[in-house]
Amino acid sequence: MTTRRTVRIAMNGVTGRMGYRQHLVRSILAIREQGGVDLGDGTAIWPEPVLLGRREHALREIAERHGLPAESVSTDLDAVLGDDSVDIYFDSQITAAREEALTKAIAAGKHLYTEKPTAGDLQGALRLARLANEAGIKTGVVQDKLFLPGLLKLRRLVEGGFFGRILSVRGEFGYWVFEGDWQAAQRPSWNYRTEDGGGIVRDMFPHWEYVLHGLFGRVESVQALAVTHIPERWDEQGKPYQATADDAAYGIFELAGGTVAQINSSWAVRVNRDELVEFQVDGTEGSAVAGLRTCRVQHRSATPKPVWNPDIPATEVFREQWQEVPDNGEFDNGFKAQWELFLRHVVADEPYDKDLLAGARGVQVGELGLRSSAEGRRLPVPELSL
Ligand SMILES: NC(=O)c1ccc[n+]([C@@H]2O[C@H](COP(=O)([O-])OP(=O)(O)OC[C@H]3O[C@@H](n4cnc5c(N)ncnc54)[C@H](O)[C@@H]3O)[C@@H](O)[C@H]2O)c1
Repeated sequence: MTTRRTVRIAMNGVTGRMGYRQHLVRSILAIREQGGVDLGDGTAIWPEPVLLGRREHALREIAERHGLPAESVSTDLDAVLGDDSVDIYFDSQITAAREEALTKAIAAGKHLYTEKPTAGDLQGALRLARLANEAGIKTGVVQDKLFLPGLLKLRRLVEGGFFGRILSVRGEFGYWVFEGDWQAAQRPSWNYRTEDGGGIVRDMFPHWEYVLHGLFGRVESVQALAVTHIPERWDEQGKPYQATADDAAYGIFELAGGTVAQINSSWAVRVNRDELVEFQVDGTEGSAVAGLRTCRVQHRSATPKPVWNPDIPATEVFREQWQEVPDNGEFDNGFKAQWELFLRHVVADEPYDKDLLAGARGVQVGELGLRSSAEGRRLPVPELSL
């Protein structure tokens, strides 16, 4: 018989895209469906969500859909934070609403888990990390991309020494986000307004920071060009608005150890790739191309020797010369896998480094990326500490 160790989690923003699908359904409810997080000592962590938000009817509807009790719904953040039975505060609200809510949660002594970016600027992100440290609470920030099957395979290659010396990483991220006039936009409109916390640099550079740092080395400098390719869009009500935020960013990152990373991020690009994000890694011993799920490699011993000659058609089908890296195991949903690690950290005190300070590093690289773009120069990324 397994004993359940209940952990109550106030989940703020579960009516949103990320909050509902990835965090509530694919993570917390999926953990309950599997019987909790088994600690291997006869106990299992049993997460109990409290659905927190602004629209009671929407929260009630979600609770009903998933068989959660009506008492597990609230629109009163202060009351929920004042409830001693709540252990963790989780935030997947729009970015602009996050800092204030996290500050309150820290003051209330709750452990906290949050979407990125953790705050609107570095100062705010560091302030949160320091407050949490002083309060002695445990914190976690989403780093879902590191848990993607394709990137887990890439990690396997890095750790297995496949690449030799890693020279460069080139990332392509993006897809066409419809303007909203003749076809509805597939992303919320706040993403395209700076004043509402939008912009692709603020959104995606935090991801690139932890992916690069986690797999290849700390980001030591950033150089970016952020632009707004599509200046007018149409919102959820079909009303035109000015897109004040950057919708594409062309970035170069120098990493500790000498690897150079170059990542294009764009919501104004049409996909001619196998996946919505792809990273090509070139090393002296071999190369790899990793996406969300797949990863293909080419070893130096199997590298073709093309000769530049525009007068004749390509002599080889280059994309067919790569080899698929096998799964060799089952991959869980990345958000869920990270939730499980965080819950183990909270309950069993297992080590965990994806905390608010790590989150601040992501905000820092985003902020410096925007400044680099505005000033037209490459900027060093100083190391952060509490
Ligand atoms: N980890 C990832 O891959 C990933 C992907 C997308 C978004 N995100 C992050 O998740 C967060 C939420 O993004 P999303 O795409 O789910 O957004 P969304 O617009 O779909 O959801 C936002 C949520 O915040 C709530 N909210 C609170 N205050 C609000 C306000 N003043 N105006 C509008 N909504 C408000 C909404 O009710 C909703 O529940 C963002 O911080 C974003 O950066 C992370």
